[in-house]
Amino acid sequence: MVTGASKGMGKASALALAEEGCKVAICSRTQSDLDEAVRELQAFGNAAIGVRADATDQADLKRFYEETVAALGEVDIVVNAVGGAAPGTVDTMTDEEWQLNFDRNLFPGIRLIRMALPGMKERKWGRIVNIGSVTGREFGPDFEMTRDSLMGYMSAKAALIALTKHMAIQLAPHEILVNMVAPGIVTYPGGRRDLWSKTQTPEAMDEFFARHLPMGRFGWPEPVGALVAFLCSEKPGFLSGACINFDGAGSRSLL
Ligand SMILES: NC(=O)c1ccc[n+]([C@@H]2O[C@H](COP(=O)([O-])OP(=O)(O)OC[C@H]3O[C@@H](n4cnc5c(N)ncnc54)[C@H](OP(=O)(O)O)[C@@H]3O)[C@@H](O)[C@H]2O)c1
Repeated sequence: MVTGASKGMGKASALALAEEGCKVAICSRTQSDLDEAVRELQAFGNAAIGVRADATDQADLKRFYEETVAALGEVDIVVNAVGGAAPGTVDTMTDEEWQLNFDRNLFPGIRLIRMALPGMKERKWGRIVNIGSVTGREFGPDFEMTRDSLMGYMSAKAALIALTKHMAIQLAPHEILVNMVAPGIVTYPGGRRDLWSKTQTPEAMDEFFARHLPMGRFGWPEPVGALVAFLCSEKPGFLSGACINFDGAGSRSLL
């Protein structure tokens, strides 16, 4: 199961898993995008479904899980790709806006994992990958792009790192590997970063790249998909509890 997967890194993860032979279920809120993504998934020859569901809504998430089990069987892999920011600072953000940040970035993962976990434990096999952000580890360049404080997003992604680490330790005896991918700036056609870059002059973009992106370009979703598929396979074996940056060496933190 992959949440938030009709576009971007969620979709790339779903496609990479389908390419490896997985039956894949994805969710997002826009039916037309889901239909297109499911067509691409099915082209690999395996069963795939798309469920229109808002991952921040508990009832929708439960329906996503139940429809997946009914159509594809038990769930061995959960990839939490859904995320998003509600901007604001400590003095401007309401409780509802704080909640929104955690509802978008933390709770979908917690709730979906809670549903899938009994089966994974019973079968003594499972893979969980959370898509976080380098912003969960250090102050990122997002402020420069959005001119908004992403304090709530940063806090929720940091909490996701803590959740990942704790689950990895707790679930290791059950042969369930739990890891995290922390992207820097990743763009895809029509995505937020793509739209933002189109509002900038070439000089401003060059300056932005020089300041934040040593490779001189944004990242793109497909390598994230390949990394997620690796983390969900037999190959990582002993690799659990890791948070792997995917940022073209853009972040500065040693940790
Ligand atoms: N792109 C970056 O630079 C970047 C950097 C660091 C971290 N991240 C994190 O990486 C993950 C993926 O980001 P992305 O930029 O590749 O994709 P994205 O543009 O955030 O969205 C990808 C997918 O999520 C779906 N989605 C959004 N909100 C949803 C919701 N509430 N319920 C269900 N589906 C939802 C979207 O479809 P609908 O809108 O139709 O629902 C779309 O299919 C997120 O967790 C994000 O925080 C991204």
